[in-house]
Amino acid sequence: MHVHLLTIFPEFFATPLAVGVPKRARDAGALRVSLVDLREYTTDRHRSTDDYPYGGGPGMVMKAEPIIDALEAIRVGAPRTRRVLLSPRGATLSHARAATLATEDDLALVCGRYEGVDERVRDFVDEELSIGDYVLSGGEAAALVVLDAIARLLPGVLGNVESAAAESFVAGMLEYPQYTRPEIVRGVPVPPVLLSGDHTAVARWREAQARELTRRVRPDLLEG
Ligand code: ADE
Repeated sequence: MHVHLLTIFPEFFATPLAVGVPKRARDAGALRVSLVDLREYTTDRHRSTDDYPYGGGPGMVMKAEPIIDALEAIRVGAPRTRRVLLSPRGATLSHARAATLATEDDLALVCGRYEGVDERVRDFVDEELSIGDYVLSGGEAAALVVLDAIARLLPGVLGNVESAAAESFVAGMLEYPQYTRPEIVRGVPVPPVLLSGDHTAVARWREAQARELTRRVRPDLLEG
């Protein structure tokens, strides 16, 4: 998958893309990331990507044309690029949405800034995505969340395919509790069933734990 990140802060992504799963995805050839500096698509002397809002009001608005020009400059030709604007107005990102996006060949993530983007940008994107009901200072952190959620689902990226299948949200529940060595930490032992070697009993215990945990902290997931 090829992801284009449209931003006025390309440097924001340097470290996150160079570590952990995104790095592994890139090294494995499953993910290619292109940083697109929106300033490259400005036409004025000051290379401005924002301006005052028509009608007045506080803050600045991101200009439409650098974004539209940058989107249009992304490979014109096959495969078609899916264009996503990060914005608090979008549908909230879910595991299911990330899994669907992970099947795209070409994805453009547009990072807004300031008080918002010129409304006319919306005619040039396929969808808007939010990562939650709060306002970030810019779409970069949100784009990173989307990219990370997608990268770990790309074929050949996670070593253990099962680890993605059993984790939180996949089965509509939170993941069961996990333990590793040592057996006792500050007097708290590992649940004995996990040391029993009885795989059926372990599976049953995990299923029950996942259900109970979900019921307690995220009952909304069980309603769906
Ligand atoms: N930009 C600002 N706030 C955002 C949010 N919650 N999700 C996605 N993009 C944003």
